[in-house]
Amino acid sequence: MQKKQRRIGIISALQQEQAGVVQHLEQAVTASRGMRDYVAGNLWGQEVVCVLSRLGKVAAAATTATLIERFNVTEILFTGVAGGAGDEVRIGDLVIAEHLIQHDMDSRPLFPRFEIPLTSLDRFATDQELTERLDRACTSFLEKDLASALTEDDRATFRLHAPRVHRGLIASGDEFIHHPERLGQLRTLLPDLLAVEMEGAAVAQVCFEFGIPFSVVRTISDDANADSAVDFLRFIDKVASQYAFHLIRRFCEG
Ligand code: ADE
Repeated sequence: MQKKQRRIGIISALQQEQAGVVQHLEQAVTASRGMRDYVAGNLWGQEVVCVLSRLGKVAAAATTATLIERFNVTEILFTGVAGGAGDEVRIGDLVIAEHLIQHDMDSRPLFPRFEIPLTSLDRFATDQELTERLDRACTSFLEKDLASALTEDDRATFRLHAPRVHRGLIASGDEFIHHPERLGQLRTLLPDLLAVEMEGAAVAQVCFEFGIPFSVVRTISDDANADSAVDFLRFIDKVASQYAFHLIRRFCEG
């Protein structure tokens, strides 16, 4: 039987998290659906469809379902930024999801906390093969591209000394976490938590329901504390854009 041609849906929430990538698409064709531009084409040897989801779980879920149903993607990669939540996780590190959870899902007493009603699941697992491929892309990026991708000034400003790759649990919710107490609550409930963001677990649920393999990588932009919002805006302009470009390139090159 002929193998189905791979077509990767690449989603980021914000323009800076996919910066420069669309300019590299060959034979690009743009289609607008539901207030989003889906740009299909060839990217570093892969057939892809790139799209910006905007922020939050509903935005991410709608975008993911459209990519699958309308643009026939065979797999999904989500790249973006997140607040750091694990003891060892620092600004500039990369967190690759092995599982994702919706930290604001609470249907008690009907279902246990965090469980997605009628799925019996609270954590969705990412695809192992894509996750390994993403790990290789992240490691190569840090080893080979980082030094030239950022100016010394930017590396000093954000104290990016020796960024690392982590793998584990990412939690998503419709909330920008910017208080140490709130982060503390989540860490108490989810002791293995590495990062917090606003879309990944929604993408995960939709991919699970449609049977589409997916992977998620997040660049840590802030500590999810009182300075989060300030760090976040500076960081995505200067740093996250560079991370995203090189990670997506290395992921496509395989
Ligand atoms: N994305 C980046 N930083 C975040 C934070 N602190 N909370 C939620 N989403 C984020």
